[in-house]
Amino acid sequence: MIKGSKKNSGDWETVRYGNITVYYIPKLDGGGRAFGQDYIPIVKKLFGKVGRLCEFGAGPGFIGFSLLAHGLCDSLCLIDINPEAIAACQKTIQTNHLENKVKTYISDVLGAIPKTEKWDLVVSNPPHFNGTITSSPDEALFIDPNWQIHKKFYESVSSYLTKNGSVLFVENLQGSKPSMFFSMINNGGLKYIKTVRHEKPLWKVIIHNIGVLLNVFKLPEIPYYIQVFQRMDIRLPGLLNIMRDPYYFMWSKKKPY
Ligand SMILES: C[S@@+](CC[C@H](N)C(=O)[O-])C[C@H]1O[C@@H](n2cnc3c(N)ncnc32)[C@H](O)[C@@H]1O
Repeated sequence: MIKGSKKNSGDWETVRYGNITVYYIPKLDGGGRAFGQDYIPIVKKLFGKVGRLCEFGAGPGFIGFSLLAHGLCDSLCLIDINPEAIAACQKTIQTNHLENKVKTYISDVLGAIPKTEKWDLVVSNPPHFNGTITSSPDEALFIDPNWQIHKKFYESVSSYLTKNGSVLFVENLQGSKPSMFFSMINNGGLKYIKTVRHEKPLWKVIIHNIGVLLNVFKLPEIPYYIQVFQRMDIRLPGLLNIMRDPYYFMWSKKKPY
């Protein structure tokens, strides 16, 4: 169980960030409680405190609520296509009396977002893998068929950004590489700034990889990993890079007008 998480009666579990208790059900967690918390030091370093922040594909809002609790934004907008995720956000808002600071939207990408919304920064832990959604309910968390969610997002976000507004998506080297998003970013009227990694101490990297290896040997997933590495044309240096930390943060900014 991740530090700070608690199991409550009923379906709800909670995790506490500063003075905010975030409600969730485990099936809505796409990693926001784990690597999603790397946003805290990264946003602090790149932007400091921003005015209005949006978490796109928010799930229960682990990243957005945590950034709010850490004093890194004044107000928050949470968007997800899944009504269950937004119901979890609503429970957190009501329980913590955040009605004046946090607004939620059920929306397929930005299709249902009013034009009055303006964000200084958008963060997101979107589905990281191209593929086909079949029947498993988990897949919508992790699969972006033909990168349509990314494409539609980058195509439409510019008009919701303030003049110096930025987008900071966390992506996964097991599913993509930064250059795959360059044309989407550019076509949407944004400029790619840079890719940032959260530097972890070596001991954490080693412990994490021992855990991964034990897991791989327990569940015979080796052929799957070999396939992924072959598909991505990953050689040893790339593999070591992934083992160091597969997550990278893509920073793009609205072009000056
Ligand atoms: C990897 S999960 C991240 C959830 C949560 N932010 C976290 O970090 O744990 C991706 C999220 O994107 C949402 N999503 C998928 N397709 C979407 C779409 N077309 N429009 C808006 N949200 C979408 C999913 O419902 C899911 O909550």
